[in-house]
Amino acid sequence: MDQFVIEGGVPLRGEVTVSGAKNAALPLLAASILADGPCHFEGVPDLRDIRTMMRILGELGVEAERLEDGTIRTEVTDPDRVRAPYELVKTMRASICVLGPLLGRRRRAEVSFPGGCVIGPRPVDLHLGGMRALGARVEVADGYIAADGSGLTGGGDVYLGGPFGPTVTGTANVLSAAVLSPGTTVIQSAACEPEVVDLARFLVAMGAKIEGIGSPTLHVRGVERLTGCRYRVISDRIEAGTLLCAAAMTEGDVTVRGVDPGTMTAPLAVLARMGVSVERPDEDALRVRPGGRPKPLDIVTLPYPGFPTDLQAQFMTLLSVAAGNSFVTEKIYPERFIHISELQRMGAHIRKEGPTAIVQGVDHLSGCPVMASDLRASAALVVAGLAARGTTTVERVYHIDRGYERIEEKLGALGARIRRENPAREPAGALSP
Ligand code: EPU
Repeated sequence: MDQFVIEGGVPLRGEVTVSGAKNAALPLLAASILADGPCHFEGVPDLRDIRTMMRILGELGVEAERLEDGTIRTEVTDPDRVRAPYELVKTMRASICVLGPLLGRRRRAEVSFPGGCVIGPRPVDLHLGGMRALGARVEVADGYIAADGSGLTGGGDVYLGGPFGPTVTGTANVLSAAVLSPGTTVIQSAACEPEVVDLARFLVAMGAKIEGIGSPTLHVRGVERLTGCRYRVISDRIEAGTLLCAAAMTEGDVTVRGVDPGTMTAPLAVLARMGVSVERPDEDALRVRPGGRPKPLDIVTLPYPGFPTDLQAQFMTLLSVAAGNSFVTEKIYPERFIHISELQRMGAHIRKEGPTAIVQGVDHLSGCPVMASDLRASAALVVAGLAARGTTTVERVYHIDRGYERIEEKLGALGARIRRENPAREPAGALSP
């Protein structure tokens, strides 16, 4: 298994460009099931999760290939296939995104029920309730969600609010099914995340009729058919936030390009309150300037436009070296704290009290071997390693590979001393650069 070896304490300097957003690209690719004719996607990052989605599409009779120019081309070749098998779904929960498109276009779906997850319970009851509200018959049997949309009526109200806010991929699913359902469907408490907005725009580009995009109330007027189209995925606000954190943590001077700062208001406000200087040299660029220790702060994760849970671990890492005590409260996944014990091993003083972490800022972190079993927690450990004194080994980087494209190359180009190695395969070499 690959690991990163990081020699910490080097301030990052230079420019870096973020990739397309994984969490936007996954439901977009799934929605290509709806299209009559080929779709071309630009800016889709080359990641493990994306390759998994392409394999699932293959199982579902959609040819999906990455062309030489980097775009992904999809085309439906066998519309009779409706089963997303356990072997693939178990490797990526976002596979559930094919449920809505299958139901909308093929009126039938058999999707393996997604399993457990280290960041806490991740039920899909809201997805299933949404499908039922559209008129589908949905059963769970033998580990599969079996949905029959032959009686899809659409034309009703669907409520997607849950105990922790609206569901992001649930909104994507219901929206993708509603666009080809009869009548006008009103989705209430729809997620407003930029990734959902991106999907809605893609569906509109295919011919769907959706009003209220970006708001919690979506009006969807069903159409007969959708055509293929060419579409560019939005950039990854979580990767951008992670890079800004890494820059601030190392007291570096980094310009992050290709970002949409309008989708990052909460993390940028949090950085400003921490005393981190972030400028906007261009429309699509953010620059972190070197500063001193960050100021302590209270952060609460919330549905968009609140502070994103997907940046919680990285910002907690930054607060672990703040000049004072901070509170970080997780309101989306109250158990998403697996990074705490690893940060403690690096010298951080963090205590968990229910859904809140109490972070007592320390002067510095110290490198050591660490391991995380979730994408964002692993990213947080890389951020920690970049600033820590000494050498940090981050094990099991396949989690990072699920969501960060060429991350060690990007960080290496900013001066980070980071190297990927596979202890089982290769002897240790020199650190880059
Ligand atoms: N929830 C329910 N019932 C449901 C669905 C969700 O109670 O049927 C609860 C969840 O348990 C959770 C909250 O609602 O407490 C939010 O879950 P949501 O459904 O919005 O999450 P998701 O769609 O499964 C997406 C991202 C996650 C991100 C969350 C929240 C994708 C592929 N995944 O997940 O991204 O954390 O929204 O913003 O878009 C990541 O990239 O590392 C990641 C985990």
